[in-house]
Amino acid sequence: MSNRKPETGGFFQRDWTWQPPAFTPAYKTSILRSPKKALMSLNNGPSEITGPVFGHSEIGELDNDLLLNFSSNGELPVGERIIVHGRVLDERGRPVPGALLEFWQANAGGRYRHKKESYIAPLDPNFGGCGRTITDENGAYSFRTVKPGPYPWPNGVNDWRPAHIHFSVFGHGFAQRLITQMYFEGDPLIWKCPIVQAIPDEDAVRQLVAPLDMANTIPMDSIAYKFDIVLRGRRSTLFENRLEGN
Ligand SMILES: [Fe+2]
Repeated sequence: MSNRKPETGGFFQRDWTWQPPAFTPAYKTSILRSPKKALMSLNNGPSEITGPVFGHSEIGELDNDLLLNFSSNGELPVGERIIVHGRVLDERGRPVPGALLEFWQANAGGRYRHKKESYIAPLDPNFGGCGRTITDENGAYSFRTVKPGPYPWPNGVNDWRPAHIHFSVFGHGFAQRLITQMYFEGDPLIWKCPIVQAIPDEDAVRQLVAPLDMANTIPMDSIAYKFDIVLRGRRSTLFENRLEGN
């Protein structure tokens, strides 16, 4: 059941019941990462406000194609071919054009290409696991990839992350960066995950779960999932780095 506050007037007050508390001991690393002192408000300087400014010219042709952007000799990565698409919207449901989206994920076996990664699943020589794109005039984005696998992580005795894709959304400056994760409809691991369980509102979790989108699949090629990102307001996507707000 939703415990969201009603929307009133033109200003959307932050709803703290939507966000997980910073200190959630079942998610072990939150113990050391959560603030021990009251937060302070800092003014932005020119570098946070003005830079960087992204343009389409800086985005490479294959940046939004994880099937090809790391492959050698045109060989494709192993895994379920998927299209992830959606729109970036503001608190009134208006599209946000020109937002830089970055995404990163494990390969189909649940393994990241990272030197600190220790999971036994193999690397895929044709899969890098990261990409980026910029929203168009309708706030829309799309990228091709393989469906990431779930992976175990050292938290409790037997904790597994559900299949997920990490997202970063940049506005026009470094101070406007938001980070979240997308999950896949029907994954039974979602509700068992201690990170997901730190989110107090079920509706907030559901907004992170991309539904299967048969209308946008490509027959005999790729399945599609739809993930809209809402930046502010009552329907805001939950962002990991905005837990304490600012
Ligand atoms: Fe991850």
